[in-house]
Amino acid sequence: MFEKLQAPPPDKILSLISAYAEDGRAGKIDLGVGVYRDETGATPVLASVREAERRLLAAQTTKSYLGMGGDPTFCRVIVPLVFGADAPAERIRALQTPGGSGALSILMGFAARLTSRIHIPEPSWGNHAAIARHVGLEIVRYPYFDAATGRVDFPAMKAALERAEPGDLVLLHGCCHNPTGADLTRGEWSELAGVLAERKLLALVDIAYQGFGDGLEEDAWAVRHLAGLLPEMLVASSCSKNFGIYRDRTGAAFVLGRSPEEAAIAEAQLMAEARTGYSMPPDHGAAVVRIILEDADLTARWRNEVETMRRRIADLRRGLAEAFRRRTNSGAYDFLTENRGMFSLIGVTPEEALRLRQEFGVYLVDDGRINIAGLKEDQIDAFVEAVVTVKG
Ligand code: LMR
Repeated sequence: MFEKLQAPPPDKILSLISAYAEDGRAGKIDLGVGVYRDETGATPVLASVREAERRLLAAQTTKSYLGMGGDPTFCRVIVPLVFGADAPAERIRALQTPGGSGALSILMGFAARLTSRIHIPEPSWGNHAAIARHVGLEIVRYPYFDAATGRVDFPAMKAALERAEPGDLVLLHGCCHNPTGADLTRGEWSELAGVLAERKLLALVDIAYQGFGDGLEEDAWAVRHLAGLLPEMLVASSCSKNFGIYRDRTGAAFVLGRSPEEAAIAEAQLMAEARTGYSMPPDHGAAVVRIILEDADLTARWRNEVETMRRRIADLRRGLAEAFRRRTNSGAYDFLTENRGMFSLIGVTPEEALRLRQEFGVYLVDDGRINIAGLKEDQIDAFVEAVVTVKG
């Protein structure tokens, strides 16, 4: 039977991991998959995470099943991290999930029982549309990014969403938009909240990079603002980046209901989604997050570590924009300092991205997305030179 199959196209992001590993050139530069790297090029285990793991190993007495929603304490302590101390907690239910992708899968699977269409920004992280397609949602693209200005084209986005049908699902990036790094202003979020409420649209906010933009609290502003205004909402969050526990697959799916009772029913539906998909999430990463967030001292240490990562990304953005300014004698790349989070679009075609890889050993996604956090300071000039060369 398998002779009927054709191999799917390789994943545009994850295939870069092995391609980069197989490249023997000394000066190769990895700006592909979205992982943080320190100045030595390593993706370290955070000290707060190591300490939590030490405590976990010492205290864990069983590895028996926990249930479809994972660790209940994790689910309790993750709510204020995302929704803030003043969250309408009685209307929010959280499920621990295998990473942000696991959260998106069960939330979209759940939403597909209520609605048939999802609006996704153009561009967006590739897996958004792939998951939506997998659960049978019709995908409508709304304009988001204006490549000419390097900013969000908010009037076009708003006009498109004003034409959406009541009940449609709308995917939004809570902060640090992937792949553009261009976020809405607070004023624009407020206007958008009005459109969502008026058109009775169901927001699905993906917040995978909390802490990598303007700070842990600042980056959650949009989620918290929407939660204060909308009757119902879905949120997918990830602990992969801000806790640096990528392979431990830890995230959360949140549902905000009109009432505690409706939220509880929605939670039970999400659990049913989890049961058919993977039964229950892996424990280790969530146990680490739980131990950190339950301990004030460890939380403070972790917050400092997130801040160190955030500052390094901001410094790299400045250094990169300055290097482009020197080399091109223009401000054409100044948008790099306005963007937030790990990613920006550097404005190369897929053909130019291929040349960068083949001729210069620079690995980036075909659409021109670079992971700023993958750069080492001493690679900045070589990277700038390579981009300027391929762009002629
Ligand atoms: C990315 O966008 O690079 C990360 O979210 C990793 C992934 O799963 O694609």
